[in-house]
Amino acid sequence: MEEKIKQIKEQALNEIDRAETGQVIEELRVRYLGRKSEISQLFSQIPKMDSADKGKYGKELNILKQTIATALDEKTGTFGAKEEKIDLTLPAASFQKGTKHVLSHTTEAICRIFEDLGFIVYEGTEIENEWHNFSALNIPLEHPSRDAFDTFYLDVPEKREGKYLLRSHTSPSQIHVMKKLKPPLAVISPGRVYRPDKVDASHSFMFHQVEGFCVDTDINFAHLKGVLLHFARRYYSPDVKLRFRPHFFPFTEPSAEVDVSCMICHQKGCSVCSQKGWIEILGCGMIHPNVLGACHIDPKKYQGFAFGMGVDRIAMQKYGINDIRLFYENDKRFLDQFDEV
Ligand code: DAH
Repeated sequence: MEEKIKQIKEQALNEIDRAETGQVIEELRVRYLGRKSEISQLFSQIPKMDSADKGKYGKELNILKQTIATALDEKTGTFGAKEEKIDLTLPAASFQKGTKHVLSHTTEAICRIFEDLGFIVYEGTEIENEWHNFSALNIPLEHPSRDAFDTFYLDVPEKREGKYLLRSHTSPSQIHVMKKLKPPLAVISPGRVYRPDKVDASHSFMFHQVEGFCVDTDINFAHLKGVLLHFARRYYSPDVKLRFRPHFFPFTEPSAEVDVSCMICHQKGCSVCSQKGWIEILGCGMIHPNVLGACHIDPKKYQGFAFGMGVDRIAMQKYGINDIRLFYENDKRFLDQFDEV
């Protein structure tokens, strides 16, 4: 036994000394310390020995095992140091950096202009009920926008304020704020909206709007025009023109749709403005007295204006993007182009 232990020790240390790779070391570890190793076999003979030898050889075998393990670890350490050597002259490894999404950037840029005017930001909820999304906004029961073809209804039990749904516009933010806070109010409310539209280059079942409104005594249409012109001058260009076209919305009276002069072709006609020179950007008007009344704000004392714009469309026009689906495909080659816009 004594001779055997000596022989194993010499052979093992010799082989470890000559080993040149981490892989060889691991092979030696298995060979000398593994379950089927010679050392394991010697250990298995110990129970058969008389008690004096048991103590002696048990101890010697443990020392042998320890010696080999230490030699293996030390040798591994020398490889480690070699393998981890860093070449500081190499170019740094590149890594993929995320960017702010172009729609987040656009939403923030729009809100910022109104915030600078003193508007506060209110982010509503994406799940609404019929009262907030329609009734309180003076949208009659028979209005087509209430149809399941135009609104996603949720499959949950109906409550006192009607069915639950995914909001189809950000206008219900007006109701939430006016129920909670008293005038004077100047609020801007960005967020996602949902409509069961078939997805194509200009439609998505989810898109983004920014709603704005202002309520106080003596508010009139000129205030609305002034605020929107200020917005357009800052967002597009100081020489932009606005065109108000009479329109109908149930929640405003009078109502208008607003076009900006095309800043891409300067009204010479291009594909972005469909050769018209004008681009529609938003709907607006004076808040209907019924809407103020639904929120317990006295329409005889207070007036307000409101507007709502589509963020996706504004970003598409500003950057000449011809397919709304590009916003939602998460292709970094597309998104990276708007890193610094
Ligand atoms: N809610 C309208 C829509 O989704 C947009 C809108 C139009 C909002 C006129 C308004 C408004 O506040 O006054 O199409």
